[in-house]
Amino acid sequence: MTKVRIGVIGVGGMGQGHCDSMRGVQEAELTAVCDIVPSVAKTVGEKYGVPHFVKGTELMDSGLVDAVLIATPHYFHPPIAIDAFKRGLHVLSEKPIGVSVKEVSRMIQAAKRSGKVFGVMFQLRAEPIYQAAKKLIDDGKIGELVRVSLMLGMYRSQAYYDSGGWRATWKGEGGGVLMNQAPHGLDIFTWLVGTPKRVTAQTRTRAHDIEVEDEAFALLEYENGAHGYLFAGVIEVPETDRLEICGDRGKILIDEQGLRFWEIPQTISRFTRENTEMWARPKAEKREVTLRERETGHAAITRNFCRAILHGEELIAPGDEGIASLELANAMMLSSYRKKTVRLPVNRNEFEELLDELKAKSKPKRGARDQRITDTAFTKKKRKKKR
Ligand SMILES: NC(=O)c1ccc[n+]([C@@H]2O[C@H](COP(=O)([O-])OP(=O)(O)OC[C@H]3O[C@@H](n4cnc5c(N)ncnc54)[C@H](O)[C@@H]3O)[C@@H](O)[C@H]2O)c1
Repeated sequence: MTKVRIGVIGVGGMGQGHCDSMRGVQEAELTAVCDIVPSVAKTVGEKYGVPHFVKGTELMDSGLVDAVLIATPHYFHPPIAIDAFKRGLHVLSEKPIGVSVKEVSRMIQAAKRSGKVFGVMFQLRAEPIYQAAKKLIDDGKIGELVRVSLMLGMYRSQAYYDSGGWRATWKGEGGGVLMNQAPHGLDIFTWLVGTPKRVTAQTRTRAHDIEVEDEAFALLEYENGAHGYLFAGVIEVPETDRLEICGDRGKILIDEQGLRFWEIPQTISRFTRENTEMWARPKAEKREVTLRERETGHAAITRNFCRAILHGEELIAPGDEGIASLELANAMMLSSYRKKTVRLPVNRNEFEELLDELKAKSKPKRGARDQRITDTAFTKKKRKKKR
């Protein structure tokens, strides 16, 4: 096999985006598409010159695909993936891999049982700045964690929420900013510093006429006593994407300006113990971090997924790691709705109960105009290479 034959399931805005970007990935071949809306399946199939299906399982049983790329609304990611793994197909799932940790645990078990490749479309992981930050942390340059913070100040209009019946409803989407806009940031956050042990959070619906949250904020506590702050919202401009990782040995700051890194050779803890001067403080030396140029965006993840199948290449974003950011998002929701501090891992049944309550209150959306157009600004956003 020199190419992986891929069927895209859910060919709305993002699914069609994948059909396009796959053209630039020589290890991949788009061989079929599927959408639950027959007219969409037909139009997209004809546009790309491939057979189309309205049922995911029909596409899987067609013999036309080695792998599926799932780009449906989130609730469908786990059941479609499980169907695919049962048939011995590889799976690349859009983010988030599901809505609840209980569901995605089943998906991860099915992946393990099948032995097939399971990837998740967390394309930010391929960005040179995040790769560099990960290497600094893995090389021990940050040392013991002291404090972390993530500020994700984003924006979405009411028109965006009105662009699909499933969007911003408990039944259709299963959450707001935590489920749709923040998962990339939450994934980078948990990938770099791990999941906290305890979360105290609030979620609110402040600026939009929607069922789900348009802002969320949390206080995080880590096993070693470090603490963190997290904000994710879609109610502000200019947008802010700022990550601070402060350790005993070093500090990383990533924002619109790029990546900055300071080394603290003596370590804060040792300096604090040994220094005798009243106003002295540990030296923090700014270090240049050279970023390694590499392919980024959706194509990078699709290529890597195919190369994992073809040549055993290590996955940039393994599917099972998709549970970490979801664990955090579920914990924030549970904490907010039950007004308590939540211990991680989240109690699966307790979260499921909450989700069922919220879904029971969910109302069909009136006046939604399905548009199926994805925002390319996010994926095109480039950061400065060095700082
Ligand atoms: N990685 C990224 O940068 C990125 C960007 C945008 C969206 N996404 C993700 O992609 C997914 C889809 O988002 P979107 O904006 O393209 O939504 P969309 O509404 O534009 O498209 C979803 C499509 O799935 C179809 N569909 C629904 N249920 C289905 C089913 N059971 N089987 C087959 N088709 C089904 C719908 O008819 C629709 O055409 C979401 O999970 C979202 O989080 C990821």
